[in-house]
Amino acid sequence: MLAGGAALALSQSLPADAEAAYGDIPPLKSVTPYPLGVATSATKVSDPAWSALAARQFSRLTAEWEMKMEYVLQADGSLKLDRADKMVAFARRNGMTVHGHTLIWYAQDGEYFQKLSAKPDAFLNAYVDYIAGVMGRYKGVIPSWDVVNEPIWNDGRGLRPCLWQKVLGDDYIGLALEAAHRADPQALLFINDYNLELTPKKRATFLKLIETLLKNGAPLHGIGTQTHIDAGITPGLIRSAIADIASLGLKVHISELDISLREDHPTPVAQPRIDQVRTLNELLEAYQDVPANQRYGLTMWALRDSDSWLNTPQGGKSLIPDEPVLFDRLGRPKPLAQAFVNAVK
Ligand code: XIL
Repeated sequence: MLAGGAALALSQSLPADAEAAYGDIPPLKSVTPYPLGVATSATKVSDPAWSALAARQFSRLTAEWEMKMEYVLQADGSLKLDRADKMVAFARRNGMTVHGHTLIWYAQDGEYFQKLSAKPDAFLNAYVDYIAGVMGRYKGVIPSWDVVNEPIWNDGRGLRPCLWQKVLGDDYIGLALEAAHRADPQALLFINDYNLELTPKKRATFLKLIETLLKNGAPLHGIGTQTHIDAGITPGLIRSAIADIASLGLKVHISELDISLREDHPTPVAQPRIDQVRTLNELLEAYQDVPANQRYGLTMWALRDSDSWLNTPQGGKSLIPDEPVLFDRLGRPKPLAQAFVNAVK
C-alpha cells in the first residue's frame, strides 16, 4: 500500500511542463467533424481534474453504468435517477450533449421484473413503464438512447436468451423501440452491440435483425458498434465492419471505443503501441468514409487510462495495467491522442 501510494505521489508531482514530453493537441472535439463523446461515472464529474479535461476535449457524455437498470430500477419498481441527473446537469453546464445508455440489456433485469415473469401482461406494462419513466424524465434533454444493448449471442447464432425474450418473445426488441418512441418521439433510437468487427457472423446476424425490425416498421434510427477492440486485431476487419454497418443507411455510432494493449491476448501483439495507432487509423479512416449525415459520433469508453473499465476487475480481464484510451492517468494527451488528431485531419 505504502509503496504504491508513494509511487503515485511521486508521479503526480511531475513538473507542470511534463506535458511537453508528449506534445500538446488541439481540443479533440474541435478536430472531429462529428460529436465526440466520453463515458463516465457520476463521481468523476465532481473531480475537477476529470471534469476540466472532459469538458475541454469532448462534446458528448455517456453514463458508463448509472443509467442502467441495475442502478436505476428499485425492487418496488421506483426509479433512482439521482446520478443520471448529476451527469446530465454536468453535461448541460458544459455545453455537452448526452447519449442515453442503456434501457434494455440481457445482462440486467432485476428483482422487480423477475417477480413479474409469470404474469406477461403485467410484465409488458412494467417494461413499457420503465422505458417511459427513464426516457420521460429526460424528454427533450437526452436526444438519443441505446434502447437495446447486446441482443446477439457472441458467436452470432441468433438472439441471446434473456428474461425479456423469455417473457415477451423475440419481439421484445421491437416492443422496446415502440415504447421508447412513444416516450419521446423526437429521440433517436439505437441498438448497440460489440465484436461486430471481430466476428463477421455476429455482425451478419445483428444486421439481419435490424433489417427485419425496419421491415416491420420499428422506430430505429441508429446502430451502435461498441468497438472494444484489441490493438492487434487483424487489419481490414474494422474497415469491412464499418462499411457493412453503414450500408443499412442508419446512423452509425462508434459507441464505446477502447483499444486494449494487453499482452496476454490469445495472439500476443509484437508491437502493441504501433498496432494500436494502426488500428485507430483504420477505424477513423473507415468512419470518415461513412456519409456525414450517418456519422452520429464517436465515444471513448473512458477519459484517462486510469478511468478505464479494462483496469478494473469488472472489465472481466486480469489486472495487468492497460492503456486503451487517449489520455494518460495524469490527463496528458498520449501519442495515441496525437495520432487521433493526425488521422482525423
Ligand atoms: C461496463 C462499464 O464500463 C463498467 O463500469 C460496468 O460495471 C459494466 O459495464 N458493453 C456495454 C457497456 O454496453 O455498458 C459496458 O460497460 C461494457 C461492455
